[in-house]
Amino acid sequence: MDKQALLDNLRSEIITQAVCPELAESAQNLIMGEGNPDAQVVFIGEAPGKREDQSGRPFIGASGKFLNEMLAGINLARQDVYITNIVKYRPPDNRDPKTSEKEAFWPYLMAQLEIIKPQLVVTLGRHSLQGFLPGLQISQVHGQVISDGRYSWSILALYHPAAALYNGSLRRTLVDDFQQIETNLGG
Ligand code: URA
Repeated sequence: MDKQALLDNLRSEIITQAVCPELAESAQNLIMGEGNPDAQVVFIGEAPGKREDQSGRPFIGASGKFLNEMLAGINLARQDVYITNIVKYRPPDNRDPKTSEKEAFWPYLMAQLEIIKPQLVVTLGRHSLQGFLPGLQISQVHGQVISDGRYSWSILALYHPAAALYNGSLRRTLVDDFQQIETNLGG
């Protein structure tokens, strides 16, 4: 079976196993992610927002546009990478995802990554970082590539584009840190 078919099966499993029924109830769409199932780099955000919930696609609002711009800055397009979230249904009113919600989706995120087999996982924001490397502070490790043997991919921690969008200094930091992707993918 090809990778896209395996990813589609995973989507069906989330529905048949009724993962996160409270969020499923209020959300319009289950947003698995999109992009190239053979990508070397996978971006992992927090959870879908309103625009994403309406369209069924991750990162299409203001932070998605900013992400696209940063990708273009390192000569990548969305079709070259894979983009997903820790939590795959929109939390109501854009509240932070709860620990129980992040835990419910974690095995499915791991299964997604086992299918894609990226070289680099880019965490966007603290929820995503804490899932992979609990205890680390984003203010201390942003821009660093961490390969400590826990996973078969390296991890690059970045600030969330939504946090950096309207904050000049965070924005510059994020754009600078983004260069690490190019450096670590070896061109
Ligand atoms: N923010 C996220 O973390 N994920 C999205 O898909 C959109 C905005």
